[in-house]
Amino acid sequence: MSTVITNIATLVTNDPSLGDDSPLGLVRDAAVVIDGDRVVWTGASSRAPATDNRVDAEGRTVLPGFVDSHSHLVFAGDRTEEFNARMSGRPYGAGGIRTTVAATRAAGDGDLEANLTRLLAEALRQGTTTFETKSGYGLTVEDEARALRIAARHTDEVTYLGAHIVAPEYAGDPAAYVDLVTGEMLDACAPHARWIDVFCEKGAFDGDQARAVLTAGRAKGLHPRVHANQLSHGPGVQLAVELDAASADHCTHLTDADVDALANGDTVATLLPGAEFSTRAEWPDARRLLDAGVTVALSTDCNPGSSFTSSMPFCVALAVRDMGMTPDEAVWSATAGGAAALRRTDIGRLGPGARADLLLLDAPSHVHLAYRPGVPLAAGVWRRGVRVV
Ligand code: NIG
Ligand code: FE
Repeated sequence: MSTVITNIATLVTNDPSLGDDSPLGLVRDAAVVIDGDRVVWTGASSRAPATDNRVDAEGRTVLPGFVDSHSHLVFAGDRTEEFNARMSGRPYGAGGIRTTVAATRAAGDGDLEANLTRLLAEALRQGTTTFETKSGYGLTVEDEARALRIAARHTDEVTYLGAHIVAPEYAGDPAAYVDLVTGEMLDACAPHARWIDVFCEKGAFDGDQARAVLTAGRAKGLHPRVHANQLSHGPGVQLAVELDAASADHCTHLTDADVDALANGDTVATLLPGAEFSTRAEWPDARRLLDAGVTVALSTDCNPGSSFTSSMPFCVALAVRDMGMTPDEAVWSATAGGAAALRRTDIGRLGPGARADLLLLDAPSHVHLAYRPGVPLAAGVWRRGVRVV
């Protein structure tokens, strides 16, 4: 069955060959035709072919559904008290992760899945049609594999993050924990995941440990991505580029050599403004990365500690207000950028052959995502050709 959405004031295709020659490939007074789970046509509303169904966009905006390429959604409990303490001046540190590890280990499968499902519904209502999510709050063989099994029921973009922090039982022997993460735990987790990630940071894993984790994962067919340079300068970004990670995530503390490495490699810099917002930390400098020619993605990092938001529009607004991005750049990074960070070409764009993941925005243009922060603008969402909002 085919559907045409007509009377779109602004269509964001992210394909310059289909629209104006900006990276967003904008088409004004546009239409989109969906057949099954694919987009089959985009162009001027006046030339749209006839189809079974017609939806009138009434002069609003259509863009690709958001691609949230970084989240941590399999967890139990929350960390309201830690957030409250932070807002009274206490700094953020990786140690808070242990609170969520204890709560997650104690939770039943049903509770973990219910929490995940609730957060996904929340994200979908705001226009997220693809999301990546990670383990990392189990830190035992069983608990990590369980998190990945639950995640894999909801997304293909599943990441094994056994190397989130050293599990509490191994506090005195981090090397033994790295052996577990790269050995028995990896064997149990690899069948359920596409990606392997490591938190490369003081208080988590150093450069050598991160390298061991990522190369072991690669040998089992998992592709690397890295939590890099979030809280301080360190080796994460350059390691990510060296190992051809799909993405280096956070990128808050960068040297010129880090920026050069990203500009000369194929690793996307994924910026997570929700984390700087919720930890009152210094913003990542998106402008510096973009001016150097680095591909930038924006994602939520949704997790109960450092960034408890599922809202891609919120991240777009922060990136524009505080990280030096233009509205066009931020919208591109939250859609096509996220797709690049997942090495996907079927999402994050709207053109013939793309997956029919669309967001109808109650606004005359995509700029309103930053111009009207905090306003629920999502008026319709299609995922794989099916209207779900
Ligand atoms: O991406 N940086 C490491 N992991 C998460 C935070 C996890 C937590 O605080 O629970 C992040 O910000
Ligand atoms: Fe994260």
